[in-house]
Amino acid sequence: MDYVSLPKIELHAHLTGSVSRHTLHEIWKKKKASGQTDLDDPLVVMPEGKHDYNLQTFFPLFSSYIYNLITDEESIRYAVNSVLQGFLDDGIVYLELRTTPRSTTNMSAETYITILLNAIEEFEKSHPQMHTRLILSIDRRHSVETAESILELATRLQNSTRGVVGIDLCGDPTARPGGDVSIFTPVFEQASRAGLGITVHFAEAEASGSYEELRTLLSWNPDRLGHVIWEDEAAKKEIAKRELCLELCLSCNVQAEMIHGGFEAHHFKHWKDVKGPKISLGTDDVGVFGSPLSNEYRLVAKHFHLDRSQICALARQGIEGIFGGDQEKERLRQVMWKE
Ligand code: IMP
Ligand code: ZN
Repeated sequence: MDYVSLPKIELHAHLTGSVSRHTLHEIWKKKKASGQTDLDDPLVVMPEGKHDYNLQTFFPLFSSYIYNLITDEESIRYAVNSVLQGFLDDGIVYLELRTTPRSTTNMSAETYITILLNAIEEFEKSHPQMHTRLILSIDRRHSVETAESILELATRLQNSTRGVVGIDLCGDPTARPGGDVSIFTPVFEQASRAGLGITVHFAEAEASGSYEELRTLLSWNPDRLGHVIWEDEAAKKEIAKRELCLELCLSCNVQAEMIHGGFEAHHFKHWKDVKGPKISLGTDDVGVFGSPLSNEYRLVAKHFHLDRSQICALARQGIEGIFGGDQEKERLRQVMWKE
C-alpha cells in the first residue's frame, strides 16, 4: 500500500517539534554567517538519525536550544513553511498544528501567532489540497496568568475556517503531578464555553496518569486526549464511555521509551478494538522522532496486521475528531479513501 498517497489527517503535531534538523541547520547557517548566533550547529546538537530522546532530554531541547534559534519573523516563517511542506509531501489533507504562544527578544506572543496564521494562509493559497488550523498550547509549567493570556488570544483569533480552533495542555508530564493541573480548570472551562476545541495530553508518564488527574481533565470536557499511556482499568472504562477521540503517537512513545516492549506492546492494540473512542494517529514531533505520518500507518499495518481497508477506515476515524467544523468534515469524507 502507498502510505504517502493515502490521504491522512494529522491532529497531534507540535510546531517546533516538527521542524526538521535540516531546516534548523539552514536557519542556523544564515544566522551564524551574519553573526546573529553563538549556538552550535543543529546537526551537531541533534545528529541525523538520533531519535532516542526521553522525557529528561526532550524538553530542554526546546527551552535551551531550538527556541533560541527560531526567534524572529524570518526564521519563524521559514520553519513553519518547511513544516507545512513536509506534511503536504507526506499526503496530509488536513492538519491541526499546535504551538505554545511565546514571546522572543524580538516579538510578543501575539505577533508570533499572527506570523504563523499569515504563513499558513499564504501556504494554503498555493496548496489548497491541505487545510491547516492552529491549536494554542498551554504548558503544564505555565502560570495561571500565562494560561489566561493564551486563552484570551485563542478566543480573539478563534475561527473554524481560518485561524485558531482549539486549545491544548502539553509540556513536561512530571510537572504538576497528582491532579495539580486543576489550577487551570477555570481557563479550560472558559475555553469550553467559548466553543474552542479542547485536547489535552493525558498519562504520557506515570506521574500524569493518576485517576485524580483524569477526573480533573475530564471535568474540562475535552474532545480529544493525547497519548493515554498510563491509564488504569477505571480510566480506560471512563474514556471508552465518553467516546473521546484518542491521538496516539506510536513512534514517539516507543523512541522516548514511554512504553516498554516495542510497537507490539503499544496500547493501540487495546484501543483498536474498543467501541466508542475514535483513534487518530499522530506524529507528535516528527523533527525529533523522525517518523512521518505515512510511516506511522505503515507501522500499525505491520505490527497489528491491518489490511488496506482497515487502514483506510482507521485514517477516516479522525474525521469526527477534527476541530475545523462540519464543512471541513464533509470535504474530508469526500477526499479520504474508503478502501
Ligand atoms: P511548540 O509548542 O510549537 O513550541 O512545540 C514544542 C513544545 O511542545 C515543547 O516545549 C513541549 O512543551 C511541547 N511538546 C512537544 N511534544 C510533547 C509531548 O510529547 N508531550 C508534552 N509536550 C510536548
Ligand atoms: Zn504531544
